[in-house]
Parts: sequence; structure tokens; C-alpha cells
Amino acid sequence: MRTDIAQIVRLEDYRPSDFLIDRVELDVRLHPTATRVTATLALRPNPEGRADAPLVLDGDEVNLKALALDGRSLPGGEFEASPQSLTIAQPPRRPFTLTIETEIDPTSNTKLMGLYRSSGNYCTQCEAEGFRRITYFLDRPDVMAVYTTRIEAEREEAPVLLGNGNLVEAGAIEGTGRHYAVWHDPHPKPSYLFALVGGRLGRVAKSFTTMSGREVELAIYVEPGKEDRADYALDALERSMRWDEQAFGREYDLDVFNIVAVSDFNMGAMENKGLNIFNDKYVLASPETATDADYANIEAIIAHEYFHNWSGNRVTCRDWFQLCLKEGLTVFRDQEFSSDERSRPVHRIAEVKTLRARQFLEDASPLAHPVRPAQYREINNFYTATVYEKGAEIVRMLKTLIGPEDFRRGMDLYYERCDGTAATVEDFLDAFAEVTGRDLSHFARWYAQAGTPRVTVKGTYDEAARTYRLDFTQETPATPGQPTKEPMAIPVALGLVARDGSALDASGDRVNAQGVFLLDKASDSVTFTGVASRPVPSVFRGFSAPVKVSLDLTNEELLVLLRHDSDAFNRWQAAQTVAMRLLVDLSKGTSVPDAAIADFTSALRAFMEADALQDPAFAALAITLPGEADIAQEIGADVDPDAIHRARRHMRRHIGQACLETLQDFRRSLAETGAYSPDAASAGRRALRNASLDLLAAADAELGEALAGEQFASAGNMTDRLASLSVLTTLPGDAREKALAQFEERYRHEPLVLDKWFTLQAAIPEDGTLERVKRLMQHPAFSINNPNRVRSLVGSFAMLNQMQFNRADGSGYEFLADIVLRVDALNPQLAARLLTSFSSWRMMEKTRRGKAEQALRRIAGKPNLSRDVGDIAARSLEEQNA
Ligand code: BES
Ligand code: ZN
Repeated sequence: MRTDIAQIVRLEDYRPSDFLIDRVELDVRLHPTATRVTATLALRPNPEGRADAPLVLDGDEVNLKALALDGRSLPGGEFEASPQSLTIAQPPRRPFTLTIETEIDPTSNTKLMGLYRSSGNYCTQCEAEGFRRITYFLDRPDVMAVYTTRIEAEREEAPVLLGNGNLVEAGAIEGTGRHYAVWHDPHPKPSYLFALVGGRLGRVAKSFTTMSGREVELAIYVEPGKEDRADYALDALERSMRWDEQAFGREYDLDVFNIVAVSDFNMGAMENKGLNIFNDKYVLASPETATDADYANIEAIIAHEYFHNWSGNRVTCRDWFQLCLKEGLTVFRDQEFSSDERSRPVHRIAEVKTLRARQFLEDASPLAHPVRPAQYREINNFYTATVYEKGAEIVRMLKTLIGPEDFRRGMDLYYERCDGTAATVEDFLDAFAEVTGRDLSHFARWYAQAGTPRVTVKGTYDEAARTYRLDFTQETPATPGQPTKEPMAIPVALGLVARDGSALDASGDRVNAQGVFLLDKASDSVTFTGVASRPVPSVFRGFSAPVKVSLDLTNEELLVLLRHDSDAFNRWQAAQTVAMRLLVDLSKGTSVPDAAIADFTSALRAFMEADALQDPAFAALAITLPGEADIAQEIGADVDPDAIHRARRHMRRHIGQACLETLQDFRRSLAETGAYSPDAASAGRRALRNASLDLLAAADAELGEALAGEQFASAGNMTDRLASLSVLTTLPGDAREKALAQFEERYRHEPLVLDKWFTLQAAIPEDGTLERVKRLMQHPAFSINNPNRVRSLVGSFAMLNQMQFNRADGSGYEFLADIVLRVDALNPQLAARLLTSFSSWRMMEKTRRGKAEQALRRIAGKPNLSRDVGDIAARSLEEQNA
């Protein structure tokens, strides 16, 4: 694919398909290198399409073997076929059937799109445009059909055969070693939700009774021998199904729900109707191989893909510009589920940390785009933090603005109206406008306008009048293609906190009963009356909007919030804000008085002594400093990653020294007793104990090495083992290398665990790391073809190791550019994702900026780049705000 001629697809150019496909019958005869697919399509002209249009079916590297129309073999002159498309210039203007036979090679499919093989098993990935790699099709989400799939394979090679929907028939093919299965999915669906699997797989299963009393067989298929590692995922699936019934009234709609775990997968997981396919990293877990974070991810992703059954499958997207309609909404739903299953405030902090680290970063980069983009060159590049995370924040703001009851009524109306259709963002908003009678057109700007709004807040206390006024202004910076911005509709959840921590009952004008003020103009203010003493304002409680906040509060006032705010999110935020101020000044070489650091560390110590053990998970977050990339983002320009690293280490040492005894107390009082359990409370205790270890090691390397070494030797679970190894990797020397070697030996046969080992080493903040990463690429467990391996080693180096990726000599950039080009020839999607690690190159100081630009230009200048990599390279280099 020549990138310079890759066309741009625009939202404004949408028009309905000229043809529709009502039914699809697929006959797939699996073969390692020559799989035969016969597709019988029931087509008809779309009354909303053009009357005289040709039929143009999409293809991608497919090989046409035979073609018939209504059973009549089509002569060469009546159609035109290439690997990219199949055109019939004069198709019938009435319903007709097209029978297409294609041949594909799943073994050499390294792009992992369409039908491919993973560990010898056959599987598919069709979102967004992979179905066209199986057969020619109208491969767009607004063409919805009922699918029947017959799969045939050698029984020896693929004893398990799975498809979408319900199994209708299966059997042997007499006299051959072959067998078949027929699956039928009664729900019309777009082609991107098609899936099939064939292979040797182990199975765990359980039966689920839906709220209306129907029995559903839930099953998870994994590599034989690893069945017991799927128990947690199966349990999470059952809890997700129950939760969607209770929280949203949504019931499952087939007799079976199958999940298959595969080792080679570009993404986390995929919501194919009735047959979810997962990256095995997000299915397999045991205390010995998975961390608390892995368990939490498995729960969230199982839920996410299951929730798509309604938000994505029953109601799908009209076109790919509407991606946030399913992804943003489903992320919101999985976040709500995790919040209900775990600790809501702790989960909220985790969500915001990800949002800032990924989405705010993207919004400030040349890759910034609206939640609903107006155009794209390659849709794979729009499965972004903006579409997902900011998309979820929009749904959350909507709920904040209209309240939980109207939100639920709006969701019900949306599902009722749009069930079985391919919908748009407008359809979604219309449902809420209708149930509330509100005009949501201003709110809808969140979908169209890119960039993170900055809200500046100033407070004024009038002692005589006992009033307190908050003045707000908002501004959104320019982003590519959007030089000027309109004010956004921003819900501000707020309250006032008395300096001594006592309750402050003040009422603000224009603040609703839930404590929410709507800022929808460039500037506005709220006045509280009956305010007895000068308060500290607590704004954007629970992070009520995805904005950056400038607040004219002193560190001292922020530390009042850390101790006394009733809003847990803002307690955490207060500590982060103070820490960030200090870290930014230290990084920039601005002089920081010792007293300022001491005030902060003693406030942290007071918090630890008084409050930490009441909620260890929260405390672990509160005592952890912003990351190096967060600090870089806050600085925003002329970034020196070495200085940031030093500043952060300096602060960690100070906190560790100031809180030494308390941290050691935590180590003792939180010590693990009894068997491992992944529940949130136990995970929280481990998190605080391990955060303490990290600070102690920063305070005193010798003590850190002793404690970490001891924990590494005695750990009874992967969370503690990995946390101690992580601390050891930051301490150069023999102990580290020995521990790394022991870990490697112990998990030699566990690829997913070795991924963690790769990641830890790629993140070592030291000069030798790039050489180490290059050496590890030769490790027998590494494979350039496997996305998990590449992301764990190369991706982690570029994303987690700010200092070494952004080396002043440019060697980190050159390395990444080499890998991107190498991977691009195999797997463009993976290559493009790796390349996004360059997205904040313009923020770097001059030398690094120059080196990064050089590496990017080298990539952009190559002929034969994939559209995926070509698009990211070109947009990364575009003049900002052009
Ligand atoms: N539909 C996506 C998977 C997908 C993304 C397929 C891009 C093809 C291209 C799936 O529902 C999803 O969003 N998966 C996420 C995990 C989720 C918990 C946010 C993923 O794979 O990262
Ligand atoms: Zn999704």
C-alpha cells in the first residue's frame, strides 16, 4: 500500500450502502496454508442507496477461486476481481445470491487480521476491517446480516470447532479424518463481529441462569493443561452478566457464551457475538503467575467484552466514526462494574491516572483528535485513549449532569429504540434529550472538539458578608485542524472544606442538590453564602470532568484537603498537586526550599500515621509520586528526562527518610498471612506494603536490597515476588542479576511471566538498558512475531523508560525506528502502536527533539510503509495546529 495515495475517509461523506446483505452462509474448510471459504450472500439493492450503482465488495489479500450469481458461474467479462476488491458493474436490481469461493493462507498471516494461526490453532480477528481478508464483502458496520457458518477441519488438528451463535449440527465426515460443525447466529450483525475458532483446546464451563430464567452455557477455552487458570475469568464473566442485569436490565441472548484465549493477539480482547476471543494475558491467572493488577485487568476486560453484547453488538455503529458509541460507552460500563466490585474511590483514581497518562498526553500531541474524529486514513489508528477513555468520561459527565435515574431511563430508551440497528452518537444523545427534555447540543461539543480544556479557578472570601465566590474561566488549546475552540459544557462537582476539618454547610447559588455546577461559558462564577470562615475549595470532586485545573491554592491549603476533604479523589489529588509542584521545580532547577519538601513529607507522614491503614489501597496511591512521564507532561516544553528522573528520585528519598519508621511499621503490620486472594482489600494491603518497600529502598539502598531480597526469596504470590524484583532492578549490582536469573529459570516455560521479566528489565533507568534490551531480543523466549513479547520488551522500553528511550544521543529513538520498520513488514497494527511512543517528541529539549525528528523522518521517508505506520509517522511530523 502506497501511503501517499492512501485516501482520507470523511464523516461528512457518509452515505448508505447501495446494497444490503440479509444472510450469509459460510463454508470454511480449514487448512494450514490453503483454507477454502465459500460464502453465499443474499444481497438486495438498498432502497436508500443509488439505483444504478455497481456492486463493489471489499477484499484484502484474498484470492478468488470461483464466482456465481444465483447459481450461474459468472464469466470473466461480468466482473472484475483483484486482491482488494470484487466489482460487478451491472448487478441485478432485485434480490440475488452471490456465491464466492476464496482461498486464504492462515499460516503466513502475520498481520493477525482475518483468519490466522496462533500456536497451531485457527482463529479470526475481524474488527475493524478484517472480514474482507476472509472473503469479499460489504465490510462496513451498517451492513448487518444473519450468519450461518459451517466449519470443517481435520479432527486431529482441530477437535474443537467454534462459531458465532448457537451450535446447530456437528459430526464426522465418513471415511476421512475430518469433521464439521455448523453454527447459526440469529442476531443480524456487522461482519466485524464474525468469528470462528478451530483447534486443540481445554475447556472450563459453568451454567448461568438469566434473569428471565433461561439457561446459558458459559465456557472458556484455553491451551490444554491451563484450564485451572481460567477459573477467575469464568467467575468474572458470571459476575459481569449478573451486574448487567441488575445495573442496566440487560440480559444475554444466546444459549452459549464462549471465550477463547489465544497467545497471538493484536489487542486485549474482542467481543465477537457469542464467541469472544481474548489475548490469553487477559484470561489466564494463578497466584503463582499473575499479579493483583493482572486479576483486576482480567475482571475488567472480561466485563468489557461481555458488556459489548448490548453496547456494540445489539446496538452497533453506523460507521467507524461512531466508534466511541460502543467503546466509550462500554469502557464507562466496565469502569462502573469494577467500581461496584472493588473500591469506587480507589478505582476512580486509577481511571484518572490512566486518562491523564494516555489521553491528556494524546490531546497535547500531534495525534490529538476529537472523540468522534471527522476523518481518518487508517481506522486502526483510532482505537485510542481519546475514543476510549475520554469517550467514557463523556458518558460519565452526562450521568453527572442528568442524575442516575434519568441516565438509566435514557439508556433504556436508547437500547429500545436502537436495538438491531447501526446507530450514531446523535441517536445516543437523542435518547437522553428526550427523557430529560434538555437540549444537549452544547454538551455534544465534547464529541467534536479535541484538546483538554484548562479551567482556572480563583476563590474570594468576603469575611464581612460571609460569602465565598469561585470564579471560573475555561480555555481549550488549539489542536491539529482546530485552531480555535468554543467553550465546553463542564460539570464541576464542588464543595467547601473548613481549615480545621469541621463540616462547612454552605450553599452555593447555581449548585444543584448533588453539588454540581455547570460551567458552560468562557467564564462564570458561583457564590456561597453563610460561610463562617475562610474555606478551602474542593473543586472537580471525583474528577467530574476531563479537564486540567489551575487552582490558586497554597501547598498548605492543599494539605488541608489531603487530611480533611470528604471527597477521596480530591484528597489524593491534593497530595499529587503539591508533589507535582515540587517535582516540576526540582526538574527545572528552580530552587526549592528544604522547608517546602519537609512540609510535604511531614504532611504525608501525618496522613500515613493517622489514616493510611483505614484504606491501604488508597494510601498506596496517595504516597506514590506522579510518574516521570506525568511530570514531563506537566512541564510541557523543553523537557529534560534526566533531570526529571533525578528530581523524582530525590523526592522519593526524602519521603522514605522522613517516614522510615512508619513505612517499616507498614511492612510488618501488612505482612501476608494465609492463602493468596485477589480481592481488592487484600490487593490493597499488598499495594501499600510494596509502595512502602519502594520508598524504603529509595531512602536507603542497603536496607532496600535486604528487604527486597528477603521478600523475593519468600514471596508466596506473583504480586509480591514481582514487586520485590522491581525494587531490586533499580539497585545495580549482583543481587539484581542473581534475582533476575532465578526468576528466569523459575518461569522458563511461562511466556506471560517472562513478559513481566522483559518489562522490568526494559524499564531499568540506567545507561546499559538499551544494550540489555537488544540482548534480550535474542532470548529464546522472545519473538518479533508475537505482539505480547514485542510490547513487553520494546513497547515497555519506549513507554516506561522515559530516560533511556529519550537518550540525548538519539540511540533510543533509532532503535525504536528500526524495530518499527521491521515489525511493519509483519504486523502493521503493532508497528503503528509502537510508533505512537514518539507522540510527545515536540515536548523534548532541543537536542532530543532534533534526534526524534530525525528518526521519525527516516521512517516517514521509507517506501512501502503500511498505511498504519505511514499515517502515524505523517501526523506525528505535521506542524502542530496546522
Ligand atoms: N473491540 C475492541 C477490540 C478491538 C480493538 C478490535 C481494535 C480491533 C481493533 C475491544 O472491545 C476492546 O476495546 N478491547 C480493549 C480492552 C478494553 C478493556 C478497553 C483492548 O483490546 O485493548
Ligand atoms: Zn471495546
